[in-house]
Amino acid sequence: MRISIIGAGYVGLVTGACLSELGHEVIVMDTDESRIEKLQRGIVPIHEPGLSRLIAKNALDGRLDFTASLEEAVKTSEIHFICVWTPPLPDGQADLSSVEGVAKNLGEIFARLTPHKPIVVTKSTVPVGTGARIRALISESYREPFAVVSNPEFLREGQAIVDMTHPDRIIVGGEDEEAVTMVASLYENLSAPCILTDLPTAEMIKYAANAYLATKISFINEVANICELVGADIDMVKEGIGSDKRIGKSFLSAGLGYGGSCFPKDVRALQQFSNHHGYDFKLLKSVIEVNEQQRQIIINKLLKHLKSLIGKDILVLGLAFKANTDDVRESAAIDIIRRLQALGAKIRAYDPAALLTAQKMLTGDIKFVGHPHDGAKGAHAIVVATEWPDFKDLDWAYMRSQVANPLIIDGRNLLDARMLRELGFTYEGVGRK
Ligand code: UDX
Repeated sequence: MRISIIGAGYVGLVTGACLSELGHEVIVMDTDESRIEKLQRGIVPIHEPGLSRLIAKNALDGRLDFTASLEEAVKTSEIHFICVWTPPLPDGQADLSSVEGVAKNLGEIFARLTPHKPIVVTKSTVPVGTGARIRALISESYREPFAVVSNPEFLREGQAIVDMTHPDRIIVGGEDEEAVTMVASLYENLSAPCILTDLPTAEMIKYAANAYLATKISFINEVANICELVGADIDMVKEGIGSDKRIGKSFLSAGLGYGGSCFPKDVRALQQFSNHHGYDFKLLKSVIEVNEQQRQIIINKLLKHLKSLIGKDILVLGLAFKANTDDVRESAAIDIIRRLQALGAKIRAYDPAALLTAQKMLTGDIKFVGHPHDGAKGAHAIVVATEWPDFKDLDWAYMRSQVANPLIIDGRNLLDARMLRELGFTYEGVGRK
């Protein structure tokens, strides 16, 4: 099948690379000419394991191309994936201006080129009803038959290629049966079950999936907070409840809460459009509140031990919103550093991948270090803010010898508490005994 991908961002590039790997002819379009020019030269502007290799391979095989012209992308394709971003507006609603702009442009180009029944697919996470809106916008210029289909992505940063090539399920929704079947057939070489449904249901599945996972995280965080009060241990509680197949162990790691470009945005958007439709989604309000509260818990733990943070040197390990990415969007680490700075603390910060991206977000009294050892000397506390596995293997005896005060607040329950206590650290996790 010949496919155009509109938007060379994270979702667009991963989708384009994987669909070309599945044997389709793909052209990725973006209005950012310098981005396209780089991609044409094999420079991939995002950090995602395996993506550069996949792009290079399929570009070389002639199945993957890049263009800054929407008309060129449309001219050479039968199916058009909208993969532009939907950032949150200040009130939490998704900003659909890019999606709507693309829909209008597609309508005008279709009217000029009169392709045979084009199919427009939304990959971007869009509120329920957006597919219908896209249809209406295209129809303003184009009166011939076309179809709109929703095919949401479930890509985790750092594992996006695996998620796309080994999905748990593929969701395809639309009112035109032929178009839905055609989009589903793009994935026929994957072994995942394909769930075919209507447009609003497919759109809702994406929000419900992310909101449910975020709810699991806030739930386990609340359980962790109670564990601390009653002397129970969250690691064993996780093992105990996660062993029940109905619950499962994933997304039950307690800590600083969720961040990133999806969960915070999608949970707020689902709450907003529920409100918009006259429904008060009470549970999501608490999910958001608990997520914010978890960040403050780390500050409270520091204050409990240090009394005041004025002039205290705090080493923050981890800046990315999760491990294996350089992405700091909505990162708990960044938020915590700002709160610590507001309380007068002096920050040293380390991350194996996100130092550069974090530097753009943070100002004030902060020193970025190239290795945790470089930030340990004279530190009054160490905070683990991202679950990078590398932190487990640090030379903690050396770290102990360098710090001014042996206090570790492990916001991700990552480290070996017993080993650290034996080395003389005061160790606190989240809900850990
Ligand atoms: C998420 C969804 O998983 C993916 O399906 C969707 O399409 C996009 O959003 P991503 O944002 O890459 O993917 O990150 P994910 O791995 O899901 O983690 C999200 C956040 O939750 C991270 O901040 C992570 O640290 C946190 N998290 C995750 C926890 O706090 N506890 C957990 O048990 C799991």
